[in-house]
Amino acid sequence: MASKSIHLILFLAVSSLLHLIPLPSHCTDPGPLQDFCVADLESPLFINGFPCKNPSHLTSDDFFYDGLKKRGTIFDALNVNLTQVDVYAFPGLNTLGMSMNRVDFLPGGLNPPHNHPRATELSLVVEGKLFVGWVTTDYILYWKVLTAGELFVIPPGLVHFQLNVGEGRALFYASFNSQNPGITIMAEALFDSTPLIPDPVLSKAFHVNDTIIELIKSRVAALYKSSY
Ligand SMILES: *[C@@H]1O[C@H](CO)[C@@H](O)[C@H](O)[C@H]1NC(C)=O
Ligand SMILES: *[C@@H]1O[C@H](CO)[C@@H](O)[C@H](O)[C@H]1NC(C)=O
Repeated sequence: MASKSIHLILFLAVSSLLHLIPLPSHCTDPGPLQDFCVADLESPLFINGFPCKNPSHLTSDDFFYDGLKKRGTIFDALNVNLTQVDVYAFPGLNTLGMSMNRVDFLPGGLNPPHNHPRATELSLVVEGKLFVGWVTTDYILYWKVLTAGELFVIPPGLVHFQLNVGEGRALFYASFNSQNPGITIMAEALFDSTPLIPDPVLSKAFHVNDTIIELIKSRVAALYKSSY
């Protein structure tokens, strides 16, 4: 009897505490506290997001961006052209919790395994045929081959990739629920960081010798130095 009521008290105490603690799963951008806050990218202040430009100096052009209508023409070593329209490219997005990318692929082009630490991604294919896949924290791969008009959603922070498996070019637009989703390319994070991760860490993690790790490091460095 006594132990039952202790459990009940503990249960009530823990559940009332849980209501006070902000849940860590909340990973979207904070809501705006005014209609808009066009980013002043030149401000010397360091805050979460960017300070606002003086609203009385704004024009319609502050809420307009036309950089996505052009087909990418300069392709990286993996045959992809990425146009990122985050808050840095389009300051009008500041505090609004959204952004968008355009990704063009030549035949065989690969957008290599990467994640966006701060956003869910909704991808809309508008041209070609793309193999899109993402991996859960239980290491299950969910994937689809998408063609024009089809959507695939990628939950926040999960590792994903897109490979052009069609005959011609491919194009998709990705929208994000963050003004600054961020991107970490797995190969670069592991094999081309500054400074580099020491070989023994990687040789143990991948269960190969240092010679192989050095080879991968040099290949990854050459690949991404030429690309980004
Ligand atoms: C994509 O192509 C555009 C238009 O040619 C170019 O301005 C841009 O630098 C390219 N992006 C990358 C990441 O190479
Ligand atoms: C590293 O591993 C590869 C593949 O198993 C092997 O061919 C090579 O001889 C090894 N190198 C050294 C220095 O042990």
